This record gives sequence, C-alpha cells and structure tokens, in this order.
Amino acid sequence: MLVLGIESSCDETGIALYDTEKGLLGHTLHSQVKLHSFYGGVVPELASRDHIKYIIPLIDQLLKDNSISINLIDSIAYTAGPGLSGALLVGSSLAEALAYSLNIPSIPVHHLEGHLLAPMLEDDKPSFPFVALLVSGGHTQLIDVKGIGQYKILGDTLDDAAGEAFDKTAKLLGLGYPGGSALSELADKGNAKYDLPRPLFHTHGLDFSFSGLKTAVLTLVKKQPNLTLAVKANIAFSFQESITDVLVKKSIQALKQTSYNNIVISGGVGANKKLREKLITQSKSENFRAYFPKLEFCTDNGAMIALAGALRAHLSSKNDYKFSVQPRWKLSEIESNF
Ligand code: KG4
Ligand code: ZN
Repeated sequence: MLVLGIESSCDETGIALYDTEKGLLGHTLHSQVKLHSFYGGVVPELASRDHIKYIIPLIDQLLKDNSISINLIDSIAYTAGPGLSGALLVGSSLAEALAYSLNIPSIPVHHLEGHLLAPMLEDDKPSFPFVALLVSGGHTQLIDVKGIGQYKILGDTLDDAAGEAFDKTAKLLGLGYPGGSALSELADKGNAKYDLPRPLFHTHGLDFSFSGLKTAVLTLVKKQPNLTLAVKANIAFSFQESITDVLVKKSIQALKQTSYNNIVISGGVGANKKLREKLITQSKSENFRAYFPKLEFCTDNGAMIALAGALRAHLSSKNDYKFSVQPRWKLSEIESNF
C-alpha cells in the first residue's frame, strides 16, 4: 500500500510517500522558521497562508522526484490535530479533497502518534511494548505504548514543555526563536559553571516541571554584570545539563515501573545531542535499549504522518471525505475520535 502523508499542524509543511512493502520512498519539507522568527514565535494566520502556498507544489515535486504518478497512491494520511486550527485545516481539506478526487480512503492522524512512531522509520525498529519519551515544543510526556492506538500517559509536564523551556531560555540568551538547537550548539562551547535546579528529580512520580528552571536562568542572567558569549555558553551548558538529567532520570524510572526493555525518544527535543548521549549511556548501563528517529524525523515532518497512517490504516481509514480538525486533541482520546 502506498500512502501519501501530509503534515501541516504548525510551522512546517511536510509531505512524504510511504510504501508498506518498501518503507519510506521519499519526503520533503518546507520550514516557516524564517517567516516567524521576526515575531519571536509562530503567527497562526501567516502559518496557514504559507501552508496554502507550498502544500500543492511540494506534493507535485515529491511525486515527480520519485517518478510516481498520483494515481498510484492508495490512501492519504494527514494530521488532523492537535495544532493550529487554520494550519490543520489547510492539510486536512487538501487531503480529503485529493482523496475524494482519486476515490481512495483518507486517514486522519494524531500528530503526537506520528512523533512517537517515528523511530519505526529506521531499519532498527523497536518492537511493542515500549516507553516513549515525547519531547516537543508543546509536550513533555512519558507514554506506555502497548501497540498502535494503545497509549497510556505515565507522566506529563505540570507547566512548561521541554521544548518551551529550551526556547524561553534561548530567548533570554538572545538566541532567537525557536532556539533549542542554537542553545544546544552554544552549550557545546560552555562548561558546568552554574548549578541550576533539577525540578522533581528526586520524586517518585513521572511528572515534569520546568518553569522553575526557566526562572532560575532568568535570575542568573539578571545577576551577570557582563553577559559575554562565554557566560552565555556556560549558562546554556548548565541549563542543558539540568533538563537532560531530569528527562533521562524519569525515562529510566518509567522503564523500571513498566518492566519494559525499550524506550523511544521523539519530538523536536529528541534531536538534542546531549539528551541522546545520556539516554543511550544510562539505558545501556541498566540493560535497556534506546531508539531514536533520525534527526530530521525528530522535528515535524511528513514521513512520520505517512508511517502512522500506514500503521493505523486498518483502524481508521475512511471514505466519507468529511473532516473536522481537532486543535486540542489529547493522545489519550485517540480511539474515541474515530
Ligand atoms: O516536534 P517539534 O518540531 O514541534 C512540535 O510539535 O512542537 O519540536 C519543536 C521543539 C522546539 O521547541 C525546538 O526548540 C526544539 O524542538 N528543538 C530542540 C532541538 N531541536 C529542536 N531542543 C533542544 N535541542 C535541539 N537540538
Ligand atoms: Zn511536532
């Protein structure tokens, strides 16, 4: 089965072709980061308009690059939520209209399900069940994944998401938006000069809280008589140490609690080198295995949506071409929506 995947939930237009026999055939992405960086965050109306501008040319180009005729597509998977309603509407309406015109089924996909299944795009895939650490701009969750659509949230953030904490800290250091990857590059030049808090590190629960860490960085930044590049690098290093220590500690705790052997990391913060290194080392030392998507599939992309669509086609393929986007769709509500 050949699935066309469409992602348009936020500020990336992602398109992919996934074949259930051959795997990922190709994917393409248009990022709106430059468009929004002037405003210091995503402007929803601009995001929708930009998706409209790029979505059809990207599909055309991907089909052309892979020498695939549109008539060979068997079904169309698209992100139906959560995300920005206008942005979701662009992908959803195009996907349903295209599926209708081709007389093929459509598959609405939950964006976070796409993220948590993304490690299955790799040759070395995790098998079910596993623990997923989902760390993105809007989410920080530990999830018990028993199979497709069988997700139980084990831990969640009580305030800021991990990506949000990276972005806010990056902003305080003048690194622009979104600043997660810039902060991580700057941290490579720093060292552990400051001892920042590791919120909820010693608790037994699996929830996270990062707003106190962000406030501690703010206080530290204000105290500096001279915020030189070297000082910023040390702050970035110390912040990254704190947040990755907490994420890894809770991940190992979740593995022990579930008695599973495998953990997957996904979402934009999953691209963080320090987090990947620490999780690999600590998992190995406890006889667990950590799986990651390639860096390009940690952040938003069409490949994870095409894959999730292919994996849940038997559960949620539909032929009525009706659609409603779900900006606040919870992962735990995934089954009840179909
Ligand atoms: O999954 P994603 O692309 O979009 C959402 O669904 O939110 O995640 C974006 C988040 C942003 O907060 C960004 O700063 C963060 O992922 N991010 C990183 C890195 N690359 C992206 N955070 C830390 N280190 C990175 N290398
Ligand atoms: Zn995402």
